[in-house]
Amino acid sequence: MVFDSGVGGLSVCQSILVSCLGVRIVYVADNAAFPYGTKSDDYLRERIVTVLSDQYITHQPDVLVIACNTASTLVLPDLRERLSIPVVGVVPAIKPAALETKTGVIGLLATSATVRRSYTDQLISEFAPHCDVVRVGSSRLVEMAEEHLRGEAVSELELGEITSSFFSENLSAPIDKVVLGCTHFPLLRAQLEKCSPKGVEWVDSGDAIALRVKNLLEHLIGEHSSPSNHQTDKLIHEVIFTGNELANDFFKSMLCSLGFKSFKLAGRIRCG
Ligand code: DGL
Repeated sequence: MVFDSGVGGLSVCQSILVSCLGVRIVYVADNAAFPYGTKSDDYLRERIVTVLSDQYITHQPDVLVIACNTASTLVLPDLRERLSIPVVGVVPAIKPAALETKTGVIGLLATSATVRRSYTDQLISEFAPHCDVVRVGSSRLVEMAEEHLRGEAVSELELGEITSSFFSENLSAPIDKVVLGCTHFPLLRAQLEKCSPKGVEWVDSGDAIALRVKNLLEHLIGEHSSPSNHQTDKLIHEVIFTGNELANDFFKSMLCSLGFKSFKLAGRIRCG
């Protein structure tokens, strides 16, 4: 099961579907509470645990992926305590960006909540103490990714304005890596690349998460002869919304291009 506040976690599903052949995904988008990035920590903690406890009982997944940085940096310990399956979280890819930067200046593009979390401070002081880290929090960019998956046009001008502090001439050296610390943002990778200087790499955590999921599933296959998620004849993915279901043709074609070959959609599921 893969979880996010909206369509952002689909960017993580894309990597999982490439790496984990035969996996069946139940994708849960808590869009009734979207966006998470502007909500209080207390509200989010209670909300996420309630929604996921219900969905866990209904779908009995082998692995749960919290494909949302805003949620992961807040509720992973709670969920791991309550659920008896592996819970994989997504945190901003500060570590690889800090290891690979040549200029020593990296960007972090995330929700306002993730940008100010103490978890993020810890990641930076542990893995990037030698780097200047320029942080930009944007709720608007999260909405733009949602709009993009509904088939609406993305304004390059607006993207340029949101990301302009990364490319300011006042930095100690040019930024060469920008961490996409929100799972919605890789969905706009092509547009971000278009409006950034040459040589800038936009780094996300999708492939690292997919590798972790692959290892966990291989371990499970070793333990049980045939876990339900690996029967190839049952490969109909589910995409579930807590609010209104997103079901227009453009979204369906985006799901196909992200690797969902066969799926069913459901909206307004009961939770809590
Ligand atoms: N996709 C999310 C993340 O990775 C959350 C976006 C939001 O709902 O604000 O943080």
